[in-house]
Amino acid sequence: ATSLLLLLVTVYGSDSLARQNATLEQYIMAESKKVNQRYRLQYHVAAPVGWINDPNGFSYYKEQYHLFYQYYPYEAKWGPMHWGHVVSKDLVTWEYRPTALVPGEEQCFSGSAVEVNGSMVLMYTAHVVKEGMPVNQSQYLAFSDDGVNFEKFAGNPVIPASPNNSPDFRDPKAWKHGDYWYVIIGSKTDDEIGTVLLYRSKNMIDWEFLTILAQATSDLGYMWECPDFFELGGKHILLMSPQGMVAQGDRFKNLYQTGYIVGQFDYETFTFTQETAFQELDYGHDFYAAQTIASPDGKRVLIGWFGMWETAFPEAKDGWAGAMTIARELVLDSNNHILMKPLTAQSSLRNRVSLQSNLKADQVLELEPASEVLIEADLTQSINLLLEGRSGGGKAWLKWDPSVGKVVVEREEGDVRQVEWSPGSNKAWRLFLDTSSLELFCGDGEAVFSSRVYPLGGWKLSNLGTQAVNTTAYALKRSVPSYNSAMGTNLKIFN
Ligand code: FRU
Repeated sequence: ATSLLLLLVTVYGSDSLARQNATLEQYIMAESKKVNQRYRLQYHVAAPVGWINDPNGFSYYKEQYHLFYQYYPYEAKWGPMHWGHVVSKDLVTWEYRPTALVPGEEQCFSGSAVEVNGSMVLMYTAHVVKEGMPVNQSQYLAFSDDGVNFEKFAGNPVIPASPNNSPDFRDPKAWKHGDYWYVIIGSKTDDEIGTVLLYRSKNMIDWEFLTILAQATSDLGYMWECPDFFELGGKHILLMSPQGMVAQGDRFKNLYQTGYIVGQFDYETFTFTQETAFQELDYGHDFYAAQTIASPDGKRVLIGWFGMWETAFPEAKDGWAGAMTIARELVLDSNNHILMKPLTAQSSLRNRVSLQSNLKADQVLELEPASEVLIEADLTQSINLLLEGRSGGGKAWLKWDPSVGKVVVEREEGDVRQVEWSPGSNKAWRLFLDTSSLELFCGDGEAVFSSRVYPLGGWKLSNLGTQAVNTTAYALKRSVPSYNSAMGTNLKIFN
């Protein structure tokens, strides 16, 4: 009887969290096999099944990169938030890990990850809902010694409320400087003006509020989500995702924006002196809530949510919704403008012999669903390229008009995103196509567009312009294997 009792205690007591997780992982594995593959991305992190949004906890721990994401496994729409988890050695090839955080009393909203005395610490927003109404957002911690299994801190919350008790107080991004941990958190004033709040701590547990690091001027929105703050090119960058900005001409055309302000930061007085206006980071249709990491080789690397709130997500019919962009290296140019470039390692996905062609007017190039295309043309003449499915489905046009000096990405008929482009010495375009996405990098990353497009049966590229265009196309390798194979490395959780 004693041993039976012991067994029951082990199974239903201390081990119950692991068992719950095992059930969830088994559910994800089983359901992910049922997903219709027609729009499935091959080299972008996406939900194995269900919904994902923001990148979270982007970090480097025990010799690998970790990326978590806002995750609702049970339906392909937003729901009570979990943290999904992938790892990588090179930020290009990814493997799934078991779901890291599962909601309890709280939903696990966005946050970040740091290493403290050899442990991985997640800091995230606990979003509490009672009777269908959001009642509170506070900051929680969770710990791990292996970077796979996480335990929520018994002393949560570590920051119970914002100084003005705002109901919107979320998305902590923590970092270390000198003897202190710092964290910034997105919030708003009582009269609905977006803010970023700065705190510090000696131990990640006891936090002292320092100051409002930055606050929206009238046209910068009512709430700032997902702030990030880091050094780049001798300056400090405040990256954030404002809600409530109004479109101005070509700018700010998505429902919410992600962009940055360049300035100087003084750790003595905690003042951020702004040197620029807010600038968009990516000009495409689907880009939000980006987060960065300082990679071990000193680069600043960013991944964004390859999605936007309140858009269609056609893949939701197939059982999944949402993805991450490819990783991009950030560089600050002499005009206080951030350039975004694919990582050098991204080229390791190039698979077959490239297809080189001089694509003349009216000619068509057939491409694999996962392809990279280098495009070179005479920029004193216009460019007009059509991307569409070999068997129909979604379309997009890539255009350049030298008379106005703008690059255009038009999705379907008339859904236009465009921006001025002044190329430096690199005048080529680098286009990344996946089964249902495009990412266009112009020159050295002066203009970047990320948009989801849903062609069927692989891509074809037609030259609708008058000049011939040089194209070099590569088929790309799959770099995000299925959930099942990845889980083999984590059998521990099923014991
Ligand atoms: C941004 C966001 C965050 C929040 C999370 C919830 O897209 O709204 O502010 O933590 O998504 O899923």
